[in-house]
Amino acid sequence: MASIPIVPFVPVVESGPALDTGTAYGRPPPTHDAELTEVGAGTPMGELLRRYWHPVGLAADAGATPRQVRVLGETLILFRDGTGRPGLVHPRCAHRGASLYYGRVEAQGIRCCYHGWLFDVQGHCLDQPCEPQAGEPYRARVRQPWYPVQERYGLVWAYLGPPDKKPQLPRYDALQTLDEGEFLEADDSSIGGGGPPVIPCNWLQHYENLVDPFHVVILHASFSGTQFVPQMALMPEVSFDTVGSGVRVSSLRKLADGSTLHRISEAALPTLRVIPSPRIGQYGRVESIGWVLPMDDGHFRIYVVGRVKAAGDLRRMRSRLNGKLWEELSEAEHQAFPGDYEAQVSQGPIAAHSEEHLRSTDRGVAMLRRLLRQQLAAVRDGHDPAGVQRDPAAPPWRFEAGNFLLPP
Ligand code: FES
Ligand SMILES: [Fe+2]
Repeated sequence: MASIPIVPFVPVVESGPALDTGTAYGRPPPTHDAELTEVGAGTPMGELLRRYWHPVGLAADAGATPRQVRVLGETLILFRDGTGRPGLVHPRCAHRGASLYYGRVEAQGIRCCYHGWLFDVQGHCLDQPCEPQAGEPYRARVRQPWYPVQERYGLVWAYLGPPDKKPQLPRYDALQTLDEGEFLEADDSSIGGGGPPVIPCNWLQHYENLVDPFHVVILHASFSGTQFVPQMALMPEVSFDTVGSGVRVSSLRKLADGSTLHRISEAALPTLRVIPSPRIGQYGRVESIGWVLPMDDGHFRIYVVGRVKAAGDLRRMRSRLNGKLWEELSEAEHQAFPGDYEAQVSQGPIAAHSEEHLRSTDRGVAMLRRLLRQQLAAVRDGHDPAGVQRDPAAPPWRFEAGNFLLPP
């Protein structure tokens, strides 16, 4: 019988284009680093930030009309009693919860609109007008939840942390020592590059931006035209350092005449922007200090205090894109001329850290995150975080920040 040859089966592979790789299909859902970003009471970062004083308003915001403020995920009522004392209280009245936003500010405190209970700036209940006299001892025991506040540099500061850990309200050399003709001005209008007063994204996106000197060259100096001064378009030689209580950025730019622009800035704990003017009106030490206030996980705002020579100088420093302020731009212009607001808000309500690819030029960001994690660990281990000052006689904080011109 003739044998039948066995032909091995060879699958036919159709030659064609290679499969697409790197497509968006099937990617895992993005996640953010909750430990670093979320600020509510009881969260790790919320508890760390509650170990410091934060500005919660301009001095003028504390007035005879109750003002609702958002701070670290809490809604609070800011007011100033008739004797001039600022107060910051929980909104829900201790009686039956009507909001003190509708209250009336009086000489001794704030009175609830519903049944007239009166609370002083430390939440003591001073009056319950519907109650007979027999209610007096009980009245004295009622307490409206409140937070300590202080005023300095034209801002109202609040401490939302454990009472036994309350630090001194810091002073800063840049705001204590004024040069000839200078005075302090406070501003809350927006982030430096422009935008609305309340920025709808997580605070860390802005705080990290402070240690990102490379975005200045792209976003602020070429992508949308010159937002500051032409020197900022030069790619700097950058070094980063973790100093006592922050991350310092040193940027060197060789200028055409052989001199060098040495720009030093710092992101200091807990949320400070120690950034010399990118407009370089004059060389020398930093002119202003800003604070990033995390209002909640998805919103922040900025308070700035600076040494100025004319009222309104801080607002006049706001960027113009295509010749206009941020709020004057159309949607098409926002797209064509993006600035800090567009870059940071478009990272998302909270940036998707799981999808990032950090490179060498993000070293400052990595260092700042590490510094924050070290402070989270310090608080977890029962220690004070860096930058907390308890000695009332301690000298003001001094920063190296500034724009300096080094001769050829
Ligand atoms: S709810 Fe405020 S006094 Fe009654
Ligand atoms: Fe910027």
